[in-house]
Amino acid sequence: MKISSLWDCLFVMAALSSGITLNSCEDFTSQDNPSIHIGVSQCAGDQWRDKMNDEMRREAIFHHDITFDFCNAQENPQKQDHDVDSLLNAGIDLLVIAPTDSVNGARLIKKAKEKQIPVIVAERRAVGNLQDAFIGGDNYAVGYQAAQVLISLLPDGGEVLEIRGRDGSSPVEGRHQGFFDGLKQCPSIQVVASVCGYWERDSAQVRMEEAMRLYPNLKAVFGHNDYMAMGAHLMYNKIMQARQAQGMAVPEDRPLFIGADAVYGPNQGIAWVEQGLLDASILYPTGGDIIIKTAVAIMNGEPYEHYQILPTYVIDARKAGLANNLSMATVSEVKRVHLLQDRELSLLRRINVERMLLVVSVAFVIFFGVTMMRMRKNYRERQQSTFHLMQAYRQLLDAAKNETSDPEFPSIRPPKEESASPQESSPAQPKKVQPVPEIDPFIKKVYQLVDENYQHADFGVEQLSVLLDMSRSHLYRKVKQKIGITPFDIIRDKRFSEAEKLLKQGLESSEVASRVGYSSVAYFEKCFEEYKSMSD
Ligand code: FRU
Repeated sequence: MKISSLWDCLFVMAALSSGITLNSCEDFTSQDNPSIHIGVSQCAGDQWRDKMNDEMRREAIFHHDITFDFCNAQENPQKQDHDVDSLLNAGIDLLVIAPTDSVNGARLIKKAKEKQIPVIVAERRAVGNLQDAFIGGDNYAVGYQAAQVLISLLPDGGEVLEIRGRDGSSPVEGRHQGFFDGLKQCPSIQVVASVCGYWERDSAQVRMEEAMRLYPNLKAVFGHNDYMAMGAHLMYNKIMQARQAQGMAVPEDRPLFIGADAVYGPNQGIAWVEQGLLDASILYPTGGDIIIKTAVAIMNGEPYEHYQILPTYVIDARKAGLANNLSMATVSEVKRVHLLQDRELSLLRRINVERMLLVVSVAFVIFFGVTMMRMRKNYRERQQSTFHLMQAYRQLLDAAKNETSDPEFPSIRPPKEESASPQESSPAQPKKVQPVPEIDPFIKKVYQLVDENYQHADFGVEQLSVLLDMSRSHLYRKVKQKIGITPFDIIRDKRFSEAEKLLKQGLESSEVASRVGYSSVAYFEKCFEEYKSMSD
């Protein structure tokens, strides 16, 4: 294996590790389900819708990998057209829509369905019922319950103002109808005017001002939401303050103000009821969690309810405290859920980082292990071939010397691996070495000088180069280039081959060491061991 391919291997392992990491991330959240990209097109942006969006996000934690894109059409149908187009272009898997108006909503649902995108209509209806599921509060009940509250609080009856939401948006119809039907039981309560407040506080203030001019004895106002009911109350207070400032008489009792939504939080419906600014609010459920459960069922092809009409509740002065408490408890639970989610995420991130580090470390250990083994093997191979070369040249020279005094030594050139073994080219069989007519006089000279000097302890490559009148590096290059081994190898080979002979003759190591140029016996023995191991 080449080093580069080892790196490739390392890279693959690292990539694999990051793959494992990503998969493990999904493991915690997806439970084998694919991710879902949900587009949410809200008709407006306010606390009630923020609550719905938060519920959706929170519920998503408990399902698989759900991502959201939220849009707010600001009660503008053209803006909602544009929002839905961009959500569809962004490749959402499912559309949740609260249509600004029911006709335009139907057109947008059709558009999504043509692109095979499932649609959940949230809270505001669309004509034609083309959606896959509808989830929303019971608007008829909102109006009916508001009427019941008035009946109980106005035993003597009186004139009432209704401030509707934006005409064309579906809750208006239901709330209006429910209100009128509810009041049928009490003919003494008379709705003297029904005006449009567009779901906004400011518009409701204007409508209230106009109505108070026409109907100065209003006993109650029903706003289709809390903002409009509060707007009406603010205008009533303003007008009464102005009258007082002019020294005019003001009635002892103010009209009743009933709203709808009952959202928890500062400056919202429940708080206004608790503070006595509203006399009641009808809790209109947001159902964000149900929307997401249904979305997941649709995407998984599981059964689900196509119409889910959520119940509404009256929050009056008696219940507002309780509602507030319950909401506070819910809010703190929600915070804890988010805290747990954050912890889980950071734990997950840590596990993934540690897992990646582990895999990368293992890959590095393997890489270095393999490299070290290869280097060791190469080193051993080089040692062995040097050893064989040293022996081969020595035997060639010895054989040539023994056979003839002819200066024509056989040429010195690297023998083949097999023929380089001492047996095949031993001095006893010099003829087996293929004679080559030419001999390199320089190499011959080197060997001759080594033979003459190896016994001296101070003889080495340095001295050899001085005797040959050349630099040490030049000597090294020239010898290496001609015969493939170094001057050091030639000297070492001479010393140890002689040592071997002497040891075989039964001489002591100390004697042999000094005869082959070693002043330290221990060092000689160590080097001799190494030399012998080269042949293994
Ligand atoms: C919020 C809101 C609520 C109301 C609902 C009707 O955007 O205006 O106040 O209950 O929408 O669709």
